[in-house]
Amino acid sequence: MKQWLRKMRIVSVLAFLALILSGCGENYLSALKPAGEVAEQQYDLIMFSLAVMTLVIVVVTVIFIYVMIRFRRKKGEENKIPKQVEGSHKLELVWTIIPIILVIILSVPTVAVTFSQGDVSAIGKKDADGNPENLVVNVRAHLYWWEFEYPDLGIVTSQDLVIPTDERVYFQLSSADVKHSFWIPPLGGKMDNNPENINKFFLHVDQEKAEEANNVFYGKCAELCGPSHAFMDFKVKAMPRDEFDQWVLDMKNAEAPEPTTDLARQGEEVFNNSCITCHAISASNDAPLFAPNLTNFAEREKIAGILDHNEEELKNWIRDGQKYKPGNPMPEFKKDAISDEDLDALAAYLMELKVQDK
Ligand code: CUA
Repeated sequence: MKQWLRKMRIVSVLAFLALILSGCGENYLSALKPAGEVAEQQYDLIMFSLAVMTLVIVVVTVIFIYVMIRFRRKKGEENKIPKQVEGSHKLELVWTIIPIILVIILSVPTVAVTFSQGDVSAIGKKDADGNPENLVVNVRAHLYWWEFEYPDLGIVTSQDLVIPTDERVYFQLSSADVKHSFWIPPLGGKMDNNPENINKFFLHVDQEKAEEANNVFYGKCAELCGPSHAFMDFKVKAMPRDEFDQWVLDMKNAEAPEPTTDLARQGEEVFNNSCITCHAISASNDAPLFAPNLTNFAEREKIAGILDHNEEELKNWIRDGQKYKPGNPMPEFKKDAISDEDLDALAAYLMELKVQDK
């Protein structure tokens, strides 16, 4: 009975693991489904190390089983002691040299890839016309949201990182408060956002792989930074260069949109009275930086990085922000601060903040 129970316990643990781990491995989220040059090299390194380690495990296991069987105490030979090999120079050399060779085999490709992926000398290079050769994005992490500044293009956005496919994009990572870490599992990384220095690296998205993921990848904060660390998500929209150029143009030309309904017009007033001191609705560089830029809010994938993008969730977020992201610095707007009617109007207005498909 007891043994049967124990067996069932193992089976149920395995079934549970299978259930939760089957959520991993999606194209938009998994480091095991690399979608670009950097992630592919890192994936190859993981697989190569795994192969070497598997080989070691197999060899050791085979020797272990052989020794167990070969040197078992047999009937009639109870007192026989096999030849003792303690202090054998030959054996000592073998099990010292083989691991050294394995470490060298592991370290050569690892060091080579580390140095080639750490090469950010292309940042700041100009072509013959004096234009930057590569796209650079300054990523500033905040409790608990992400700001993306394109210094050479003069635009700022937040929460949804937009990048072109099939070229290297260089990132300069920093933080406005505590340590965070910038991680887009299918694209590679991760790397820390520190308040005291700027870390640099590059990523690359394959257009074909981007299409498989419907052009949206998930990004995460990978450094425990506070009570809402686990909710510090962002999205990556990867698109061909010409579409990206169009997006940049639309962002640069974005003007505060004219509200299309009376409700949205009322919402604009609420926004100008309550929100605009922290939230910018212009993508230009000199916008305030202590809250997410909302220029293209209506085109975001999620509300606050985690909630479905609809008016209902938007209103929930404004009313009860602490419920969804504990410890986040945005004040909650309870009924005494903003009436139901004003909240409806505000949501209607925010949902019209678009730079494309107007
Ligand atoms: Cu930011 Cu964890």
